[in-house]
Amino acid sequence: MLALKQLSANYDGAIVALDEVDVSCGAGQIVALLGANGAGKTTLLKAVAGMLPFDRGDIVAGDILFEDVSLLRRHPADISRRGIALVQDGRQCFRQLTVAENLQAASFAHSKGASERLELVQSYFPFLREMMDRKAGLLSGGQLQMLVIGMAIMCNPRLLMLDEPSLGLSPVMVQSVFDAIERMHRELKMTIVVAEQTVPRLLKIASDAYVLSRGRIVMHAPPSEMTEEELQKVYLN
Ligand SMILES: Nc1ncnc2c1ncn2[C@@H]1O[C@H](COP(=O)(O)OP(=O)(O)OP(=O)(O)O)[C@@H](O)[C@H]1O
Ligand SMILES: [Mg+2]
Repeated sequence: MLALKQLSANYDGAIVALDEVDVSCGAGQIVALLGANGAGKTTLLKAVAGMLPFDRGDIVAGDILFEDVSLLRRHPADISRRGIALVQDGRQCFRQLTVAENLQAASFAHSKGASERLELVQSYFPFLREMMDRKAGLLSGGQLQMLVIGMAIMCNPRLLMLDEPSLGLSPVMVQSVFDAIERMHRELKMTIVVAEQTVPRLLKIASDAYVLSRGRIVMHAPPSEMTEEELQKVYLN
């Protein structure tokens, strides 16, 4: 479904963030993208979503194929319409707008079936039902994370990418987020790529895993083969 081929990306024409990266993700897979701070995880996800130019980033070599079509130099809106959604780190949404308005805004370019998807989002995150009229800025970190995942579902993606969804969450919230990811994969048949530093829970549900270090893939193996010890070696370089 998704193939990164020898992908290299820079910021400001100088800072190398990705260096000849090969990653592939088949339809229906959950792929874990692991790596320490600054490894290149966010850059990789933004490259796929077409968002690097907004950070003065640029793809300088290689290709990104989504269902055999190159995504290079395509606008993020075009990429979104093709069925790719990115839940960025930082839980970006409109903090001054209500939960309902945020979910509505997310479905703006994907209006067909929006009311059914709203029901679906509320069934995944039942607390949102009681908070539809609350300003997003008043939600807790965990609640916000679920709102932004809900906003991604409103875009009806076939490929969902999540950037460090567990960052700063309590263990119970991490559990809820990963339960939701697993349900979306199982029930909605979504293909999912999750970037995290290390989350044992992610390795339990992933079917494939890559480890990035300084912009390069340094390990690619089934999650069952990624032991804590093995990962530590890679992380400590
Ligand atoms: N907007 C930017 N301008 C310049 N350099 C950047 C920018 N964003 C990231 N970088 C650099 O690119 C490299 C990869 O960063 P990236 O954010 O992709 O890593 P990451 O794996 O997502 O890290 P983290 O786990 O901290 O989020 C780092 O060296 C970083 O300093
Ligand atoms: Mg990051």
